[in-house]
Amino acid sequence: PLATSPFHVPRVIAHRGACASAPENTLAAFRRAHELGARWVEFDVKLTADGRPVVFHDNTLDRTTDGSGPMADTPLAALGDLDAGKWFDPDFAGELVPTLEEVLDLLVEMDLGANMELKPCPGREAETAAVALDVARGLWPTEAPPLLMSSFSRVALDTARQIAPQWPRGLLVEALTDDWRAAAQEVEAWSIHCAQDPLGPAAVAEMLDAGYRVMVYTVNDPGRALNMWDWGVHAIFTDRPEVLLPLAGT
Ligand code: G3P
Ligand code: MG
Repeated sequence: PLATSPFHVPRVIAHRGACASAPENTLAAFRRAHELGARWVEFDVKLTADGRPVVFHDNTLDRTTDGSGPMADTPLAALGDLDAGKWFDPDFAGELVPTLEEVLDLLVEMDLGANMELKPCPGREAETAAVALDVARGLWPTEAPPLLMSSFSRVALDTARQIAPQWPRGLLVEALTDDWRAAAQEVEAWSIHCAQDPLGPAAVAEMLDAGYRVMVYTVNDPGRALNMWDWGVHAIFTDRPEVLLPLAGT
């Protein structure tokens, strides 16, 4: 692992922005995370039909916009007609699906760090990583700590490694399978990002002993977060930074 990196990650990361109190992956959610005191946010990136990177979680538009169908079939211009806020609450009507450029500009303005999760639509793994890295490297200040890349896709992470080897990478896993070390070594991971269930203290110790930072998603329960930090988990992705931040200490 890139264990000697001077990179600092806070104990609380606002998942998809502060997505319990604003519509996920919108500019409103990142502003809310900042207002609530988060120092870092996590967001998801995928490509439109015309190959532009946008900040969006699902493969289809249906759940978090008033549109429908696959993102991979939707050109960027068509996203401008879709509302990405009112599904969450009428107060957020008018929020749009943001481009990666818009999100990064806002984060720089608010001085927030970030984990950029590469969330490719199936078959677009390498392309998504290449385009997202290209945009991010053009926009992110060279004097700022780099973005932390992550993905469930090993192809996306390996593409990121080839394009920007100095930007740290996090291997996303749902559970710690037998091949986790090989996968982490292959992409030269800096961190391992695990689902909170079924993670236990022994698995956390195994990753820490191997020299990796350990980050866990998605924890909204304060007691569970305190347990994780006791086990040595470095950072927690939460939809409710306002609940965990007061418990996080530094
Ligand atoms: O990056 C942590 C977490 O966001 C991974 O799962 O589905 O919420 O993107 P998901
Ligand atoms: Mg994510």
